[in-house]
Amino acid sequence: MSKPFHVLSPEQFNRSFLEELFVLADKIRLIDKSKEGNRFLADILSHKRSMLYFTQPSSRTFLSFQTACSILGIKASEVRDTSISSEKKGESVEDSLRTFSSYVDLIIMRSPLPGLCDRIASLLNETPRPIPVINAGSGPDEHPTQSLLDLYTLSRNFAKRGGIDGKKICMVGDLRRGRTVRSLSKLLTNYQNVEIIFCSPKEFKILDDIREFLRAHPQISFSETGHFVEAISQADAVYMTRIQDEYDQSFESKIIDISKYCLTYDHLNYLKDDAVILHPMPRREELDPRVDLDPRAEYWRQERNGMWTRAALICKIFGVHEQITAY
Ligand code: CP
Repeated sequence: MSKPFHVLSPEQFNRSFLEELFVLADKIRLIDKSKEGNRFLADILSHKRSMLYFTQPSSRTFLSFQTACSILGIKASEVRDTSISSEKKGESVEDSLRTFSSYVDLIIMRSPLPGLCDRIASLLNETPRPIPVINAGSGPDEHPTQSLLDLYTLSRNFAKRGGIDGKKICMVGDLRRGRTVRSLSKLLTNYQNVEIIFCSPKEFKILDDIREFLRAHPQISFSETGHFVEAISQADAVYMTRIQDEYDQSFESKIIDISKYCLTYDHLNYLKDDAVILHPMPRREELDPRVDLDPRAEYWRQERNGMWTRAALICKIFGVHEQITAY
């Protein structure tokens, strides 16, 4: 039996896949506008069931996947708290997920444990009923579907300006433990002459594995700085992120001064007129809510883009993309 289409890492995608995915997301967005189109979409995977296993907090990823399933007619069930599943009785997470796989056709999972999704995907590959697994966030490690929606948002914004190639993307915040930054950096290597500016306090600098990954892809360049204003004023896109203090060993985040890495209303004067402001959300003090009113703020649209990107990805997983394209 052939292996299912798992979504485990941004490294598995190439440019042609990304471009097809984004066209598909645009098409689903368009089809969904009419009642007739909405009905067509709701029938396309109505014979499938999914399980959302989210044992780490989530608003956007959970709801956008749940809604994407609903758009496509997939019946979704969920576990969000292992204290009310049989893990509470000592069942291993592997046995739990294998159990869920008996009832559904797709597992979408978020876990605080890096590598768990890969382990579950490998385990299911060896069973008589292997089903696809989507990594919806794996601890501080990866968030591949977030990077897909981030890239989709960039691609829509830069569509009339030569696309993503050649753009400067400034990533700000806790780059050491921010999985969205890690995954997006990897995905950007599919584009030519992109320049990433990593901007953070020294305690939250990007890790060596990402530096090495980028160095192995000479079509992309990167630099690191602590100078916030200088960095954001050069950027075509500013990607703000919050401090990931859920991964603190003690309270180390509390003693690091991040005030210099917060985008305030006044900073808008330094940004390029056509810059794009992104944030994977949730936000805290690093992104002033008054920035929301600026036309360059794209993060609310970015959230909604997540729903379309995830719907498109699920269509690819189940091989129904051509039906969508032909509609
Ligand atoms: N961006 C993101 O992953 O948000 P949630 O944690 O709310 O899902």
